Amino acid sequence: MNVKILPSLLAADIGNLEAAVRRAESAGADGLHLDIMDGVFVPNVSMGPAVVEMARRCTGISLNVHLMMIRPDQYASRFIDAGADSLLIHVEAQCDVAETLAYIRKCGARPGIALNPGTSAGRADPFLIAADEVICMTVEPGHGGQSFMRDVLPKIEAVRSASIKAGKPEMDILVDGGIDRNTGADCVRRGATVLVAGTSLYGAKDMSAEVQALRESALAASA
Ligand code: DX5
Ligand code: ZN
Repeated sequence: MNVKILPSLLAADIGNLEAAVRRAESAGADGLHLDIMDGVFVPNVSMGPAVVEMARRCTGISLNVHLMMIRPDQYASRFIDAGADSLLIHVEAQCDVAETLAYIRKCGARPGIALNPGTSAGRADPFLIAADEVICMTVEPGHGGQSFMRDVLPKIEAVRSASIKAGKPEMDILVDGGIDRNTGADCVRRGATVLVAGTSLYGAKDMSAEVQALRESALAASA
């Protein structure tokens, strides 16, 4: 199985985001994860469409944009215009999730959903047909650098089985929060196919070596 590795820009040096984007690409990452926080859905504010636009100018790798927003429907087109390849919205958001996923696809991006740690796998079921990606949050969204929540592991398995049952065996299942070589391998064993990692990759002295190590431990876990 081919597991993808996405560094999360939230953990990068904010003083030099262009270099941080290029660093992910030259480290061999499969894409870049960008966390958008509106200060309402989560108690933190991060980046907006201008940062996605900057990343699009700097790299050819795919941009995976995670909207931690209460009304992602009102901003989806702006992030797609800015260059998002995938746009992921939370099932806990206050909007018509199915309609927003359909709109994202119509605009030419890959639609995805995200589940907070306390949200059951079943909440994803109605949206599995419309989504190409599901994020199982492995920390409470809002900040980087938190500890991985092991009790989310069974949910990864449940989302994987539900996706297969829904006729979507190719579903990308992402894990996001506290991911490193050990926790990443545990998630892959349960069916995760994409590892989002902020602190463990941007905090590494040599990001290429760390991407490689994460990939190797994922590969060993999937064997
Ligand atoms: C958390 C974000 C994550 C975050 C992960 O709200 O969705 O993408 O950047 O960071 P680490 O890997 O440091 O937990
Ligand atoms: Zn994220």
